[in-house]
Amino acid sequence: MNERIESTPEWAAVRSLVGSIDLPALFESDSRRAEDFTLQVGDLLVDTSKNLWTREVRAALAEVARRADVASAWRRMRDGDAVNESENRAVAHWALRSPTGTPAIVAGRDVSGDVHSALGSLARFADDVRSGRRTSATGQRFSDVVNIGIGGSDLGPAMAYDALRAFRDGPHCHFVSNVDPANTRAVLDGLDPARTLVIVSSKTFTTAETMANAVAVREWLVEGLGADAVGAHFVAVTTNTRAAGAFGVDPDAVFGFWDWVGGRYSLASAIGLSLAIAVGPVAFGEMLAGMHLVDEHVNRSIDEPLANAPLVHALLSVWYSNFLGAETRAVVPYAHDLRRFPAYLQQLDMESNGKSVDRDGRLVALSTGPIVWGGAGTDGQHAYFQLLHQGTHLVPVDFIGFARPVDGDQERHDALMANLFAQSQALAFGRPLDEALPNARHRVFPGNRPSTVIMAPALTPSVLGQLVAFYEHSVFFQGAVWGINSFDQWGVELGKDVAHGIGQELVDGRHHVSDPATRRLIEWYRSHRHRSVE
Ligand code: F6P
Repeated sequence: MNERIESTPEWAAVRSLVGSIDLPALFESDSRRAEDFTLQVGDLLVDTSKNLWTREVRAALAEVARRADVASAWRRMRDGDAVNESENRAVAHWALRSPTGTPAIVAGRDVSGDVHSALGSLARFADDVRSGRRTSATGQRFSDVVNIGIGGSDLGPAMAYDALRAFRDGPHCHFVSNVDPANTRAVLDGLDPARTLVIVSSKTFTTAETMANAVAVREWLVEGLGADAVGAHFVAVTTNTRAAGAFGVDPDAVFGFWDWVGGRYSLASAIGLSLAIAVGPVAFGEMLAGMHLVDEHVNRSIDEPLANAPLVHALLSVWYSNFLGAETRAVVPYAHDLRRFPAYLQQLDMESNGKSVDRDGRLVALSTGPIVWGGAGTDGQHAYFQLLHQGTHLVPVDFIGFARPVDGDQERHDALMANLFAQSQALAFGRPLDEALPNARHRVFPGNRPSTVIMAPALTPSVLGQLVAFYEHSVFFQGAVWGINSFDQWGVELGKDVAHGIGQELVDGRHHVSDPATRRLIEWYRSHRHRSVE
C-alpha cells in the first residue's frame, strides 16, 4: 500500500501555512516577487507571482512533491512501464514526439522506429491530399476533409485546427463529433461529396457516436457518388485495423497508433491527420517539436520541483484544491484562435483526474481534479468575469497571451493584451472603497484573487505544442501527488451501458428500464417523438 500523502509531515507542514494571504502586501514587502515567481519553459513565460502563495508555501509544496515521489512516477512513465495499472498499459504519448534516432522504450521495446514510420506515412498521405496527387473517386482534388470522432479523437485536432488558423493552407477541415444528426447536417450541408475526404478517427473503432456518424456520412457519400466511391473517400485512424476494414476502409488507408496512447493524449499521433492535412506535415512536425521541448524541460528538471514549470503549475492546483478549498480553475486564452483550448483541457484534466479511488483502490480523502472551464478573452470579461471579480467563489485563473498576433494588426492586439494584463492586475490588487462615489459598496473590488499568466511570443505550431505538453504534464503531476491513475476513464462507461439499454426501449417499447423516473421520461418521449415540431 502506498502511503497517503495527506498523512505525511510534509502535507502537515503545508497545512500549517494556511492563513490569510494579502497579495498587495506580499508584492510590497518583496521587490523580487514578480521575477522570482516567474519560470521560463521553452517559449512560455509562466508568471505565478499573483497566486495566493508565499515563498514558504511554495517550498513546502515542493517537499510534498518530493514526498509523493513524483519524480519516480515520471520516470516509470518515461521507462515505458504499465503505469496505467487498471488497464495494464504503458503511457507513452511522449514517445510520439521524440526526435528521430532517440530510442523510446515502451513495455520493454524500442517503439521509435514504429512511431517514425507511422509519422512518415501520415506526412506522405497529408502531402498527397494537399498536392492533389491523391484524388477523389471522380478524379478531383479534395477541397474538404471531415473528421468523425469524439472525445480525444475530436477535441485535440478540432482545437488545434482553430488554433493554427493562420498556418492553414490545405483543404478545409470540419469536425463531426455529436451523434445529434444536426451536427452531421450542419457540416455536410454545403459540402460536395465528390471533393470530400472522410477520416473516421476512433482509437477503438467501437465508440457508438462515431460509428453511427460514420454510417450516416457513408450513406451521404454513397447517395452522391455510389458505393464504389467509399474506398477513395474514407480513411481511418485507429488501433483496431480489423474493425476499420470491416467498415469498408481500404487497409492502405488505415493509419494506426498504439494502446499506449490515451485518447486525450493522442493529438501527436495519427489522430492529428486532419490537422496535418490542413497545415502540412512541416507545421505538424513543429508542433511535435514544441511538445518535445517541454518533455525535455520536465526531464531535465524532474529532481528540482521549483524549476519544473508544469510541476509548479500542478502544485498550485494542489494548493488551491486541497488547502484553500477552490473547486474550479478557469482558463482564459486572450486569443480567439485558442477559444477551444478550455474545452480541450476539460477532457485532458477532468477525464484524467476526476477520480475518487486511488491507485490502491482506496477511496481518496482529498479533492482531486478541479472543474476546468473558461473561454476566450475578452469575451469572458462581458460574461463571467463579474463573478471572478466580485463573486463569492475562489477561482484561480490561467491567463494565456501572446506578444504578437500571427496575422492582423498589432494595434488591436495591443488592446487585447492590455485587457489581459488589466484583468490579472485588477483581480490581484482590486480597488478599495471610495465613499465619495455613489453606490460605493457595489464598486469595491476586493482583489487578492489569484491568477497565473502564461505568455509566449506568438501562437505558432511550436508554441501550441508547448502549451499542450505543459498542461499534460501538469495534469500528470497533480495525479501523481494525489496517488490516482490519471490514465484510465472508467467513469464514462456506465452512461454508455445504460444508453444502450434505453436505446433499445425507445425502439421496441418493452420495459428494459426499471427506475420510475426514467421510465416516465421515456413514455413521454415515445408519445411525442413522431409529432411534428410546431
Ligand atoms: O469518452 C471516453 C473515451 O473513451 C475517451 O477517452 C476517448 O477519447 C473517446 O471516448 C473516444 O474514443 P475512441 O477514440 O475509441 O472512439
